[in-house]
Amino acid sequence: RIKHLKRSIEEEDAKNKSFAVNVNQRLEEIFTEAIRVAFPYLQDVKALVQPSQGDKFGDYQCNSSMSLVKQLKDHGFKAPRDVAQAIISNIPQNDVIEKIEVAGPGFINVYLKKSFVQPLVTRIVTEGVIPPPAGRKRKVCIDMSSPNIAKEMHVGHLRSTIIGESISRLLTFVGHDVLKINHLGDWGTQFGMLIAHLEDRFPNYATEVPPLKDLQTFYKESKKRFDEDEAFKKRAYSMVVRLQAKEPVIIQAWNLICDISKREFDKIYERLDISNLIPRGESFYQERMQVVVSELEERGMLKEEEGRKVMFMPSLSVPLTVVKSDGGFTYDTSDLATIKQRLFEEKADWLIYVVDSGQGSHFDLIFAAARMMGWYEPSATRVQFVGFGVVLGEDKKKFKTRSGDTVKLNDLLDEGVKRSLDTLKAKGRDEVLTPDELKAAQESVAYGCIKYADLCHNRNNDYVFSFDKMLDDKGNTAVYLLYAYTRIRSIARTAKVSSQQVKEAAKTTPVPLDHAKEWKLAKVLCRFPEVLLRILDDLCMHTLCDYLYEVANTFTEFYEVCYCVEKNKQTGEVVKVDMGRVMLCEATASVMAKCFDVLGIQPVQKM
Ligand code: ARG
Repeated sequence: RIKHLKRSIEEEDAKNKSFAVNVNQRLEEIFTEAIRVAFPYLQDVKALVQPSQGDKFGDYQCNSSMSLVKQLKDHGFKAPRDVAQAIISNIPQNDVIEKIEVAGPGFINVYLKKSFVQPLVTRIVTEGVIPPPAGRKRKVCIDMSSPNIAKEMHVGHLRSTIIGESISRLLTFVGHDVLKINHLGDWGTQFGMLIAHLEDRFPNYATEVPPLKDLQTFYKESKKRFDEDEAFKKRAYSMVVRLQAKEPVIIQAWNLICDISKREFDKIYERLDISNLIPRGESFYQERMQVVVSELEERGMLKEEEGRKVMFMPSLSVPLTVVKSDGGFTYDTSDLATIKQRLFEEKADWLIYVVDSGQGSHFDLIFAAARMMGWYEPSATRVQFVGFGVVLGEDKKKFKTRSGDTVKLNDLLDEGVKRSLDTLKAKGRDEVLTPDELKAAQESVAYGCIKYADLCHNRNNDYVFSFDKMLDDKGNTAVYLLYAYTRIRSIARTAKVSSQQVKEAAKTTPVPLDHAKEWKLAKVLCRFPEVLLRILDDLCMHTLCDYLYEVANTFTEFYEVCYCVEKNKQTGEVVKVDMGRVMLCEATASVMAKCFDVLGIQPVQKM
């Protein structure tokens, strides 16, 4: 009882702490209660409610009758329609539902009350977009970007960066404590040949910083020597040993190479507005790997197999290779040390790995091993692999330059920036915008469209990289949405009302919902909290893009028929402002701005 009381106090607290209302969840609570009363002999049934597909099915639907009817046969219910009827007759008193009806074979269509929706939208105007209640605050470690030192950061790492960034922004918005970790590949055997080559090319590297700019070429040169020259190869191997022994001068060489690489990566992060990414590469886990291996050994988890030490997990056929036959550690070893560090030192209770889907089975093994070791309990700690597909070129083959090389990310971004200027010029925007405004628009469009094109597809699928498609101003693209957004923002400007005035007005006047299109727009805006909460489950950001697109389209429908500002046709002078509708515009713009923010896209006021 005390526990119960405590919970209700917490719930009360949560309500007062001004969270956005999750309409879908409110309806689920109502229906769950109705089911409990209608069928007291059923245990713990949770009603499922979802937004309706299409206006003629109401605003939301509850389809639970379909699945419940099987359990209710013995209680005299023959068809889902009977079940639906019984549910409807037991809907508790509430302030949410206007009308409810049984449709088709037993769907329940729900129509919302305007008096319920109205304050929710008005609140967006007065308070801005506030987060929905997302449960217990968690400490999150998100593994993202994670390119390899001295190798090219490729489009796969770009995906990880963009998706990881967006997920981090979402989790931060709903109140979690997020650590973004860049798991750099900075400890591989490739350093042997790189350092050996450095010694030959720049013998004075320890005293003078070598003028080494292009690490890619340097990498290729050393790889060539490694493949062709036996003596060099030997030296490269001995370099790895000296590096692992942390010989100071070798560490210095290693640092030098890492620094050049990291500076290159940072340029990309800066361009993409990725901040607070903690560079913490595989080298960080060196000592920890030894500790983990001892722990596994002591607990008898390792098995010898052809000189290697491997670890098998129940129900998984492939083992992890923990120690190689030469005594060295592997990618598996480093990820075991990594997961342990995040659980025990960071005390994270939500781990996310944004890595290409090809590594999914690697992470299955790592997670299974960590559970087997008792390092975490899935009921308390969320450990989640967030995979994504391959980036393809327009020929549907692996993304390459015309000459067949891997695409350099900086070049790719440059091209995006150039193309976005072309697009803006083709629309004559260079004639109306000041040079500064044009530049802001150009970058907003360029980076926005690259990010959006990635995020708007289901991340599990491969996706085709096409500048032409992403710079199209029609359809579900960043360009279309950014234009739509600036247009909405300009409405209040045209009407010469400040956002402060709109806010003030909202304190006394509720948003208008009489016109069908006003009402439709308001209901879409109210779905924002539930959309965010749904994404928190599967971390599929395309759901947010779909929603953003729907908001923009619903707004267009509204704007076409609902005059917000009336101008004198001759003079262009504003003659009438519908303040209520301007409020709806502002609420729409706020929701869109928050979507952009979560997606990592920076809209501009003018473009
Ligand atoms: N550096 C790796 C790669 O380029 C990705 C690392 C992902 N994170 C991890 N903890 N293994 O494929």
